[in-house]
Amino acid sequence: METILNVDKISKSFGRIKAVNQLSFEVMKGQVFGILGPNGSGKTTTLSMLLDLIPPDNGQFSWFQQLPSKESRKRIGSVIESPNFFPYLDAVTNLKIVADIKDKPYDDIDEVLQLAGLYERRFSKFKTFSFGMRQRLAVASALLGKPEVLILDEPTNGLDPQGIAQIREIIALVASRGTTILLASHLLDEVQKICSYVVVLRKGIMLFSGNVKEVLAVSDSVELSASDMPGLTAAIREFPGFISFNEAEGLIQVHFSMTVNTSEINAFLYQKGILLSHLAEKKRSLEQHFLELLQDTP
Ligand SMILES: Nc1ncnc2c1ncn2[C@@H]1O[C@H](COP(=O)(O)OP(=O)(O)O)[C@@H](O)[C@H]1O
Ligand SMILES: [Mg+2]
Repeated sequence: METILNVDKISKSFGRIKAVNQLSFEVMKGQVFGILGPNGSGKTTTLSMLLDLIPPDNGQFSWFQQLPSKESRKRIGSVIESPNFFPYLDAVTNLKIVADIKDKPYDDIDEVLQLAGLYERRFSKFKTFSFGMRQRLAVASALLGKPEVLILDEPTNGLDPQGIAQIREIIALVASRGTTILLASHLLDEVQKICSYVVVLRKGIMLFSGNVKEVLAVSDSVELSASDMPGLTAAIREFPGFISFNEAEGLIQVHFSMTVNTSEINAFLYQKGILLSHLAEKKRSLEQHFLELLQDTP
């Protein structure tokens, strides 16, 4: 599989607020990749760095396994903020203006309008568009020039159920054509429905990441600690059913996709030369973990 985006320990602070803290993840070609976290967890800051809108304080990232360049930026389409279109111009004219600014041809304007379900309204003035139609026009404009990657920040925020369904349909359609999608959302069910992979953020820190189905599978978790923490974290990854872990104050909480036997874990690690100083079973589903996480007001 081809790596589209590699993020390596990027951090960003605003004054005393660590908005993003040592964040690393990797997005592969064709994935619909979610960044999930409550408000203020650093999603928009992350996307802004990845789009070169703000520089990271530390760390680096690469798109398409290349050094950042104008050319690689042109392969990415994005909707980060509510976009500004000209109210008295129609959808087609607005898209022509966007195409001019982004140095893209006009040939796929009809196609992106069709994709966004706006083709019938293409000659209507922007000011007559509903909020949902405006949002869809923004997605259409991001799709001009057939980008290989589409980045969306909270694409369904403020939309009614019908508007939400329409946006999700467009995302599914775009994904089915092989476009890689990176989407930030504070909605668990949105990420569950749309995304194949996810990183979960809280206060700028990655809690865990992985395949959405696996991460959301009901699972057991186990708390582990050892004096050799790097050795422990390396070894536990090889235990059958391992999904992910998060670190907290000298121990790791490890999630498994099936019920695990703690004495087997102990024996497995012992064989690898890791002596545990702490081992405790925590029965809790990751879904519950998500819900707690997302309900937690910062
Ligand atoms: N330009 C900025 N100046 C100061 N603080 C900011 C700025 N942008 C974001 N923050 C802070 O950084 C944290 C992360 O914000 P943000 O990335 O917007 O989170 P999210 O998109 O997950 O809601 C928040 O505490 C927010 O208040
Ligand atoms: Mg945001």
